[in-house]
Amino acid sequence: MNKPMRIGVLTGGGDCPGLNAVLRAVVKTAINDYGMTVIGFLDGYEGLILNHYTTLEKGSVSGILSRGGTVLGTSNQANPFKYPILQQDTYMYLDRSAEVVANYERLGLDGLIAIGGDGTHAASAGLGKLGINVIGVPKTIDNDLVGTDRTFGYDSALVTATEAIDKLHTTAQSHHRVMVVEVMGRYAGWLALGAGLAGGGDIVLIPEIPYDIDVICDQVRERNRLGKNFSIIVIGEGAKPQGGEIVVKRIVETSPDAIRLGGISYQLAAQIEGLTRLETRVTVLGHLVRGGSPTPFDRLLATRFGCEAVHLAARRQFGRIVVLKGDEVESIPLEQVGGRTRKVPLDSPLIKAALSLGICMGVTRERIEEMTAEQAAMA
Ligand code: F6P
Repeated sequence: MNKPMRIGVLTGGGDCPGLNAVLRAVVKTAINDYGMTVIGFLDGYEGLILNHYTTLEKGSVSGILSRGGTVLGTSNQANPFKYPILQQDTYMYLDRSAEVVANYERLGLDGLIAIGGDGTHAASAGLGKLGINVIGVPKTIDNDLVGTDRTFGYDSALVTATEAIDKLHTTAQSHHRVMVVEVMGRYAGWLALGAGLAGGGDIVLIPEIPYDIDVICDQVRERNRLGKNFSIIVIGEGAKPQGGEIVVKRIVETSPDAIRLGGISYQLAAQIEGLTRLETRVTVLGHLVRGGSPTPFDRLLATRFGCEAVHLAARRQFGRIVVLKGDEVESIPLEQVGGRTRKVPLDSPLIKAALSLGICMGVTRERIEEMTAEQAAMA
């Protein structure tokens, strides 16, 4: 009889609701279906580099399904190939991938399930080349990973952002204000577009469509002319004006993707107030959308991803990442995912629906049609 497998698991990158649901599914499936031993590494790849781990039993994951965050901790700075060390106020970067391989081998692991975003999967693909048997699981509130129709975490963030927009509606209405709501999402507009539509936003601005301030102000004035004397504008943190730049909030030097976005809403609000003379206020939802309990959709997706990752490990199908295609959980090669961004296509049904509803996407409808044709011609 074959010896039961030993697998490791870690959560890397920014946290999101549903990470614990994956961990629970991994541990229970590994033990119940295959009698495997599961080692949980702490704080993402940091744990594998520094050999910080804990053995996960069924009891370790009991009661965590509905909890946000990750019981293992995470890091978006512990890249095994470029690990930051502070020396006399300056960061030096070390390649610690050999230590990762040594720790993996010393623990007698047969495989590693790495739950993360594009940065984690890029590192995992690199470790795969060094002989580590990795299986990826796609997470992020941004929903911007290539190869999967959905990442878990997105639906929960969407619910939080939508609830916030619902609440801002009543105060906007009472005070006859323009309310600008900024949501995370990095360089993709999935969260802004989804929440903007679900929350009944009047203007939705996403990174994929650089906006024209005059078109936005015309829409705000038109609403006032029609007696709707408030407007809700939902903007993704990566949005920018035509011919303008994205707004960088901070640089996290030690992070593989050093740029942190945020603050475009203040620039936009000042311009709208200046041009329309209408009181314009800003709410930046920030990390709030990463918190809280996962929605049932995310719990189910995370659970299915976790189970499938273990089944792949049991079949020794390594170097792959589980993905959602339509309603099916499948897997694709890991190297297709890391370091890339899945943006909202301009012919997305959500953009079409927004336009049909009269939602302003920051430029004229004709301009979006032109841009869509240009995108199709380039594809
Ligand atoms: O990728 C998830 C995300 O929340 C992005 O939407 C956001 O730009 C970024 O992470 C923020 O990162 P940090 O937690 O390092 O500020």
